[in-house]
Amino acid sequence: MTIAKPLQFRMRPMRQADIAAVLKLEQAIFPTPWSKNSYEFEVERNNASDPWVCVVTNATGQVKIAAYVVPWLLVDEVHIANLAVAPEFRRRGLAKRLLLHVLGRAAQKGAQSARLEVRASNPAAQALYASFGFQVVARRTRYYHDNGEDALLMQLNQLDHLGLIQNTPQSAAR
Ligand SMILES: CC(C)(COP(=O)(O)OP(=O)(O)OC[C@H]1O[C@@H](n2cnc3c(N)ncnc32)[C@H](O)[C@@H]1OP(=O)(O)O)[C@@H](O)C(=O)NCCC(=O)NCCS
Repeated sequence: MTIAKPLQFRMRPMRQADIAAVLKLEQAIFPTPWSKNSYEFEVERNNASDPWVCVVTNATGQVKIAAYVVPWLLVDEVHIANLAVAPEFRRRGLAKRLLLHVLGRAAQKGAQSARLEVRASNPAAQALYASFGFQVVARRTRYYHDNGEDALLMQLNQLDHLGLIQNTPQSAAR
C-alpha cells in the first residue's frame, strides 16, 4: 500500500507579484478567464476583496501557486467570486482549506452568510460547496455568456455557527 506524502502548503494574501502566475492558471482553467486588470483591481483597489493564494514548495525548493480564491465581503454577506486549484494539486484538500480560511475571515468581519454562482455542469465544485452546507437556492438561466449555460446560486447561512476560523493547518494529507 502506498501512503501519499502530506502536501506542504501555506496560504497568504494574493499580491501584485502573484498576478502573472494566477493569470496563467486562470487562463488554463476557465473558458472566460478574468483579465490582468481584474486581478490588479482585486489586489490593489477593491476594498471589499480579500484574495488569497495557496503556495506549495516542490522537491527542488521552487515555490508555486497551487490555488487561489477571491471572496468579496458585501456588508453581511461574503460572495465567493472565484476559486481554482491547479489540476495537479486537486483532490488534496486545498480548495477546502482556502474556502474555510476565507469564510472564517469573513465571519470574523461580520458576514452572516455566503453565496456564489457555479456552473450547472460543474459537479466537482458543487460537491465541494455542498460539503460545507451550501444549498442551491436559485437557478440563473443562461448566466454564462460563453456557452449559455445556467448557473446555480448556492448559499450558506449562519456562517458564524460553523466554528470556522481558529487554526488552519498548513498541510493537507492525501
Ligand atoms: C472545484 C475545485 C476548486 C476543487 O478543488 P480541490 O482542491 O480539488 O478540492 P478539495 O480537494 O478541497 O475537495 C474537497 C471536497 O470537495 C468535493 N470534491 C472536490 N472535487 C471533486 C470532484 N472532482 N468530484 C467530486 N467531489 C469533489 C469532495 O467532497 C471533496 O472532499 P473529498 O476529497 O474528501 O471527497 C477544483 O476542481 C477546480 O479548480 N476546478 C476548476 C475551477 C472551478 O470549477 N472552480 C469553481 C468555480 S465555482
